[in-house]
Amino acid sequence: QDFNHIIAERQGAIALITFNRPKVLNALCTALIAELETALALIEADDSLSVIVVTGNEKAFAAGADITEMANSLFTDVFAADIGGPRWQRLANFRKPAIAAVAGYALGGGCEIALMCDIILAADNAKFGQPEITIGTIPGWGGSQRLTRAIGKYKAMDLILTGRQINAEEAERAGMVSRIVPLADLVPEALKLAEKIASLSAPIAMLAREAVDSALETTLSEGLKAERRLFHASFATQDQKEGMAAFLEKRPPAFQNK
Ligand code: HXC
Repeated sequence: QDFNHIIAERQGAIALITFNRPKVLNALCTALIAELETALALIEADDSLSVIVVTGNEKAFAAGADITEMANSLFTDVFAADIGGPRWQRLANFRKPAIAAVAGYALGGGCEIALMCDIILAADNAKFGQPEITIGTIPGWGGSQRLTRAIGKYKAMDLILTGRQINAEEAERAGMVSRIVPLADLVPEALKLAEKIASLSAPIAMLAREAVDSALETTLSEGLKAERRLFHASFATQDQKEGMAAFLEKRPPAFQNK
């Protein structure tokens, strides 16, 4: 399918989505969000695709929601459209593993989109921030919630109350970047990481990410129970039988994604 604001490509079992509004540093306009939503639904329904990589360009992952679109909105406009609501957070409810490959600016909604992914790979030039306060608003796509869960209250407050940007190293130290790679290697490394995940069992990966997400959604005792039930569920898959048999037979596993 052809899109105007994103590029969606297939590389084996990997779907690569590239934000494509370079002139405005990939500002996330509503049309782009709608295209992302459509692409994610197609990828989720396609059994031949098991991992997604989301990226931008060398200068910007995304510099936030499109300010030109929002500037004159009234409360009733943003409320009625539920800006920032489920349609904007589709990536957070995506069921397959998602990797954000971030180079350049990941600000505001751009940072929030990265935070909706399971793994954040940052190029050494990446800059993260929630600058909303500097334009008279606050994060609206989960920034105050996911960022706080990712890096803790005091670091999140530091970013959200000042709007300052942090580089890849500070973001990695804070715990929101999984790994830093040289800019030139960003997309190849993200694809390599995605291929590694795709070479394992897709249903087990889905169980695993659901278990990790439970840590953010619920209490410790509920989360531990959810983990246990998901762990038990892995025994209903052929891939668990294959994985353990292969280990005992000292051979590589041949996962069937079942
Ligand atoms: C619309 C944007 C934009 C944005 C950049 N541009 N960010 N347009 N929305 N978020 C446009 C600029 O207007 C400019 O267009 C072009 O992209 C290049 O940007 P420059 O500012 O000239 O580049 P530079 O000097 O390198 O500065 C880069 C920057 C700066 C530091 C990233 O662009 C910036 O501060 N952008 C805004 C960041 C921000 O506040 N994001 C949060 C948005 S609110 P022209 O036409 O002049 O070339 C948000 C809320 C989400 O995300 C929640 C909503 C529910």
